[in-house]
This record gives sequence, C-alpha cells and structure tokens, in this order.
Amino acid sequence: MKVNINKTDKEKLKWFFEKYIYAGKKYLILIISLIFVGSLAANISPYLYGKMLDSITLGDTDFLLKLIIAYFFITIFTNLLSMLEAYVGQVVNFKLSKKAQTELFDKMIRMKTYFYSKYEVGELLSRLNGDTDGIVSFGINLITSILNIAIDILVSVYFVITISVRLSSVAIFYIPATFLVTYFARKYFKELAEKRKKFGDEYYSFQNEIFSNNTGIKSFQLENNVNNKYKGFINKEFSLLKRSIYLKNNMQLANSTITVISSLFIIYLSAVLIKDGLLTIGLMVSFNTYINKLFASISQVFNINVSLQEIMVSLNRVIEVMTTDSEVNNVLSLEEKRKNIAISLKCEDITFSYEKNEENVLKNMDILIDKSGLYSIVGSNGCGKSTFAKLLIKLYEVEKGKIYINGTDYSKLSCDFIRSCITYVQKEEFFFNDTIINNIRLADENLKENDIENMCKLVGLDEFIKTLPNRYETIIGEGGSTLSSGQKQKLSIARAFLRNTPIYIFDEITANLDGKAEKDIMKIMKEYSKKSIIIFISHKISSIIDSDKIFVFENGKATDSGNHEYLLENNHMYKELFKNKGI
Ligand SMILES: Nc1ncnc2c1ncn2[C@@H]1O[C@H](COP(=O)(O)OP(=O)(O)OP(=O)(O)O)[C@@H](O)[C@H]1O
Ligand SMILES: [Mg+2]
Repeated sequence: MKVNINKTDKEKLKWFFEKYIYAGKKYLILIISLIFVGSLAANISPYLYGKMLDSITLGDTDFLLKLIIAYFFITIFTNLLSMLEAYVGQVVNFKLSKKAQTELFDKMIRMKTYFYSKYEVGELLSRLNGDTDGIVSFGINLITSILNIAIDILVSVYFVITISVRLSSVAIFYIPATFLVTYFARKYFKELAEKRKKFGDEYYSFQNEIFSNNTGIKSFQLENNVNNKYKGFINKEFSLLKRSIYLKNNMQLANSTITVISSLFIIYLSAVLIKDGLLTIGLMVSFNTYINKLFASISQVFNINVSLQEIMVSLNRVIEVMTTDSEVNNVLSLEEKRKNIAISLKCEDITFSYEKNEENVLKNMDILIDKSGLYSIVGSNGCGKSTFAKLLIKLYEVEKGKIYINGTDYSKLSCDFIRSCITYVQKEEFFFNDTIINNIRLADENLKENDIENMCKLVGLDEFIKTLPNRYETIIGEGGSTLSSGQKQKLSIARAFLRNTPIYIFDEITANLDGKAEKDIMKIMKEYSKKSIIIFISHKISSIIDSDKIFVFENGKATDSGNHEYLLENNHMYKELFKNKGI
C-alpha cells in the first residue's frame, strides 16, 4: 500500500504497522510467548503459596519441602522470563524505531529543496527523534498487551456471568459511561498533542538558532533578550503541562465516579441477592475481584483509543515527510560519473519563482555555453545569480523553459547525473567537524594524499596547513570554525577541483580573499577553464576581467554578454561596475 497524507487514520495505521512493526514479527511473537508463559507461571505462585500454608497447618513437612523447592524454582523462572522479556522488548523497540528513523532520515536528506526549505531544523529534529519513537513504542505495546487484555476480558467475563448474571448487569452502565468519557476526552487530548508538537518544533528551532549564532548574540549583546525568549518557552511549556494535568484529572475524576457508582450498585444488589439466598458472601468477593479486572481491562482498551489520538498526530507528521517528493537519483558509480564529459550548457527561455504565484526571480532567460572557458556572471544583489546556479544543479526545477546539458533536457536527467557533471561552490561552503583531509575527501573518498597536498599547494593553503600541529589531520571545528574566511574559501576551491567535474560554478568565492590570493586563484581558474566550463559569479571586477565571456544579469534576465572590452564599450551597467571597481 502506498501511503498518502489524505488516507483515513485506519489506512495510515495499517501502513505503519505493515512497514515498521510487523518487520519485528519474530521478536514480537517471542515477547508475546514470554508474557503468556510468564503470566501462567505467576498465577501458579499464589496457588503454591496457599498450599504451603495448608502443609504448615497439617504438619506435612515432606510435602512442604517439595512445595518450597517448586516455589523457589518457579520464582526464579518467572524472574528470568521477565528479564528476558525486558531485554527482547528493548531490542525490538530499538531495532524497529531505528529502522523507521533511518528511513525518515534518508527521506529528509533527499527531499526536494522546495519542500525541505519549508521546514525549520527543529521541526525535522523533533519528527525524526520524537515522533517515530513514540509511534513505534505505541505499536509494540499495543501488540504485546493485546493478548493480556483479551485473556483478562475473556476470563473475567466468564466468571462474572457464571457467578451472577443479575450482578453483571452493572456493566450495562459502566461500559457505555466509560466509553462516553473517553469519546469526549479524545478530541481534547488530540488538540493538546498537536499543540505540544508545535511547541516542540518551535522550541528546538529556537535552540538550534541560538546555539549556531553565538557570536552574533554576543556582539549585539542579545543575551538578556534570548534569555527572556527562553523563559517564554518555559512558561508556554508549563501551561501545556497544566493543561495536560487538568485533562487527565478530569478524565480520572469522571472514571472514578463511574467506578464508585458501579461498586456501590454492586454492594446494594449483592445485599438484595444475599437476602433472597441467591448469592453468598464468598461469591460476592470473587465477583468483585473479577468485575474489577474486567473494568480495568475495558478502561485499558478505551485508554488505548485516547493514546491513539495522540499517536495519530505523530503519525501524520511522519507521513507528511514520508510523502513529500524525493529527488530522482540513479546512484552512479564513480566510473559512470567520470564518463560525464559535459561540453555544453544551454538555457532556453527559463522562468522560475520560489513560490507559485509569486513574482518570477528569473524571467525568460536564454544562455548558451558551448565550449570550455571562464564564464562570469555579474549583476546587482538579488538579481537572480545564485538562483540561476541552483537551477543548474537542479536544486529546483524551472517553471517554464528548458535547460540542456550536452543537448539533453534536464527533465530527463536525474539529480545525481547532473551533480556528477557540475560542482557548485557557495560563498559560505559547508564543512564538517572533522579533519582537514576528511573534509577534502568529501570530494572523492579515494583521493591520494599526494594529490590533496598538491592541490592545497596550488590554492596557497599547504604552507598554512603545515604550520598546524596535526597538519592535514587537524580538526577544523563545526562548520570549519577554527579557519579564517579566506582559508575556508581556499579549502573549498581545492576540494571543488578535486571533484574533477567538467563544469564548476563558483558563487562569490573570492569575496574574502586578499589581493594576492585572488590573483593566484584566478590564475588557477584560467588554467582549469582550458579543459572545463567555469561559471564564476562575482561582484569584483578584478575577478572577472580575464573571463572569456561575461553575462550581465539584470532583474532576472541575462541582458548582455561579451568580454570585458566589449562590455566596457557597449554596456552602461558594466561601465558603472568598472568605474566603481565592483557592483
Ligand atoms: N529560498 C528562497 N525562497 C524564496 N525567495 C528566495 C530564496 N532565495 C532567494 N530568493 C529571492 O530570489 C531573488 C534572487 O536571489 P538570489 O540569491 O538568486 O540573488 P543573487 O543575484 O545571488 O544576489 P546576491 O548578489 O546578493 O548574492 C531575491 O529576491 C531573493 O529574495
Ligand atoms: Mg548570490
């Protein structure tokens, strides 16, 4: 069955159980068997205990000894069983929830950028870590407790009816009354669960934002402001807790009122029956034990129904992510990737906006690059340069028009094919909290140390790295926090070229470089542009002056193109750029 956010709750649950709970079928059967044997063994103990008391009274020490031995082994046996049950229970819980989490994680990282950008980081974290765990635990508990509940209900119904049909009539009041309480409570618990989830999303996002912007908070002296916001979250959490206690208390009050009415009714009716000689005190006591067991089991069933409402909130959140579109990938081998020698890029009348019905960021744009070379893009802030780059690596899809690589329409190509042809380097590149060498090897895990060192020499980074105590094995902190901005840019350029793709897009990567470093890097760009297509987005005239072709972007369109001399002569905007030494 294919899950869909519009399916009914029943279908969604069926999908979830089939996909994630039944996968642990063997473990679940084992737990159910352990519970079953355990409860049988536990029921024998009181019987043996009674027998022991009787043997003591009769002075039958031989039999008492046998009973003591049997009691000892049964107690040890039940303890071992419950240990085993706890172990298997935790293993199955771990395995199944991690299976669901692994799939969700994979889905999240492969989600189309359009959907991904709609979530805050906190939202993704709480769905991944909180919601999946909750649903899996619920599913396992449901399956494992269902047998116990069923046995309890069957046994108690049998005894209750056998003892007294007339007394059993109390259930005619108890069951519908308890059902009504849970029926009305369900709605409120669901509402509360939705609020709590939304709160969790905002709370995690807030924390993520604060901890990743510590320098900004310090330099703008926002500590008090941030502390107050944090306290605001605590207050909100407290009011949610109060609401939860209020709902639970109300439900408990209603349920205990129903129970006390039922018990008093039983006492009165028992008295009448005993008076008429239709019931004994002993049977009345047994009846009470069984009817309480029955009521407890029934209220357990109704409580599952209430928890189910909360679980549905989590399940919907998981399904929402699971049903968003993923990028289409074919997972190419390294050899296949290397075969992709791209020689041309063509954009034909492309139009794009981030949101439907919003103003277009790119408008009827035409661009043709049909041989290797250094191609620059210039234009004012917000005119669509980075957006154009994102379309070229298929982070987003064009609304109208077509992009071709080597003459093949992008819509026919998978994301991983396109990204194996094109390396996109952003101004603020990504780095992991790992060593320099491992960060470079993200380009290709089989890179040889020698090649890495040579590339670092080329971008002017090797000398600096060799001053570090652990050289290439130095850990660079979260996001490369121990490196300067220029060093990070050099590292990202080195890493990009080591990917060895036919096309590169560099988005403002010389912004943080000093004059000499910029010149050196542009020399490397020129060298690489002999055998590859280099698209260079920049506001710095010194970085683009030697380009084979410069595209001038204005308001979502490539309005002009040519080399530096041509544009200086013919393009007013470019002339201004040159005059100001940058845009
Ligand atoms: N993820 C996004 N969602 C919605 N709008 C966006 C998004 N990214 C960019 N935009 C909008 O698209 C327009 C073009 O942005 P883009 O980043 O392409 O500009 P740019 O030419 O690279 O500018 P800059 O020189 O400042 O880097 C801007 O108006 C921007 O507000
Ligand atoms: Mg940009």
